[in-house]
Amino acid sequence: MSDIWQQLSAHRATTETTPLTDLFAKDADRFERYSVSVDDLLLDYSKTALDDTARALLIQLAEGADLASKIDALMSGEKINTTEGRAVLHTALRAPADAVIEVDGENVVPSIQNVLARMGEFATALRDGTYATKTGKAFTDVVNIGIGGSDLGPVMATLALAPYHDGPACHFVSNVDGAHIHDVLAGLNPETTLIVIASKTFTTIETMTNAQTAITWLQGTLGEDVSAHLAAVSTALDKTAAMGIPNARVFGFADWVGGRYSMWGPIGLPIMIAVGPKAFRAFLDGAAAMDEHFRNAPLSENLPVLLGLIGVWHNNICGYASRAVLPYDQRLSRLPAYLQQLDMESNGKSVALDGTPLPRASGPVVWGEPGTNGQHAFYQLLHQGTQVVPTEFLIAATGHEFDLAHQHNLLKANCLAQSEALMLGRSWEEAREIAEKRGFSGVDADRMAGHLSFPGNRPSVTIAYPKLTPFVFGQIVALYEHRVFTEGVIWGINSFDQWGVELGKELATRLLPMVEGADASPKDASTRGLLAKLST
Ligand code: F6P
Repeated sequence: MSDIWQQLSAHRATTETTPLTDLFAKDADRFERYSVSVDDLLLDYSKTALDDTARALLIQLAEGADLASKIDALMSGEKINTTEGRAVLHTALRAPADAVIEVDGENVVPSIQNVLARMGEFATALRDGTYATKTGKAFTDVVNIGIGGSDLGPVMATLALAPYHDGPACHFVSNVDGAHIHDVLAGLNPETTLIVIASKTFTTIETMTNAQTAITWLQGTLGEDVSAHLAAVSTALDKTAAMGIPNARVFGFADWVGGRYSMWGPIGLPIMIAVGPKAFRAFLDGAAAMDEHFRNAPLSENLPVLLGLIGVWHNNICGYASRAVLPYDQRLSRLPAYLQQLDMESNGKSVALDGTPLPRASGPVVWGEPGTNGQHAFYQLLHQGTQVVPTEFLIAATGHEFDLAHQHNLLKANCLAQSEALMLGRSWEEAREIAEKRGFSGVDADRMAGHLSFPGNRPSVTIAYPKLTPFVFGQIVALYEHRVFTEGVIWGINSFDQWGVELGKELATRLLPMVEGADASPKDASTRGLLAKLST
């Protein structure tokens, strides 16, 4: 393995200055040879510096890390989350009903299907008004209270699938900041609002606090017993019962579903309520199709594997410390935020599986915003900044708004223009000509040429799909899940724990009494000073 890392670095050193345009000039088939499709979803990675040698070495890296058998271990229920002693089976949540996937010798698929069926019955009854409010009305609004993996997926998905949204309006409260729940509830009627309390552990302080606030809000109108307006999603059924949520509206899942991988099951309840069980199933089917591909396609034609290897190439071999996800799809506006948890909580680690320090960088910083908005904000840095940020564009062939097809054409033109501009750049000579045309001459034209030139050669990939349907959306999210897994395997880390979130939580618990006036003298001077400044 270490030899392959060295070979990759040596290869990069000899090819670093080759312009991307040369790779296209030398190979008329570069687009075909550096793109891969699953169904109608295409990954074009021809605008990266990968050549046949780099790609072959990266595949060797994946082989050396035993990626294929690790994929099998993931999907067959082995306890690969070694620090928590758990299997990692989000893929089972979307597997076909007749699949057999065992954890500790027990097939988990029937219980998944059972909960899915219960979710379907409840969502349908809520959507058609059969399940009515305490006062016998139809529910008009659903508020999901959760945070992290119990929020980001459903928020992203309900936005992504807005054209399919024909159920009650869905709202989301996550932040412990009272402003969040205040502003969401302010526009709602308690009499026709269902509160879904979503927490894998049912201990998360933000969610438990917001849940209590919501219950008090319901009680203000409905009286003491508001249980008809409550549902819960959790692995901790004892705790949901203690909160007074009737079992009929509690949707459980197992601890082998990680929080950030959980929207395919009961955490996806708001999605199902919004779009209905059929569209939800199509979303699961899209992800399941990507699972099949990930498990069965050869590494060199495997879309998530290639996306992962491109990530490794950019991060470890080229030294690019962040990547930008740029959906040219307004309905994917929360994809970057979702990926921040998926990617950075999974692969933001510094130690290998055996607890020893990693020999090289792991997860990059992931960030982004939808195009074209980002173009008018941070793209300046992408094009002319001193750091190179590999970019990932997402774009559909058609939008849902047939009467606005001309706007979608503009969107496509902008998306393609950006990856082209990042690749081509603009030479100093071209820039000087432009400066002259703008009326500059002599040293002024020289000076302006510096400002008007673009280095180019900045890598990007593009994920193109026919239309953002539930199926395609499922494919896209599963693609990113498996990309994160691929990278985690190459780096030799556990992508499924998140110990790094613990310390801040512990300290917050200890700080709360000090915020409320208790003695803060054990704290450092900065914290003491800030406590004093923030005291009310
Ligand atoms: O603090 C991080 C985290 O544990 C995430 O991994 C998780 O998605 C989130 O908190 C919410 O946890 P829960 O669903 O248990 O409330």
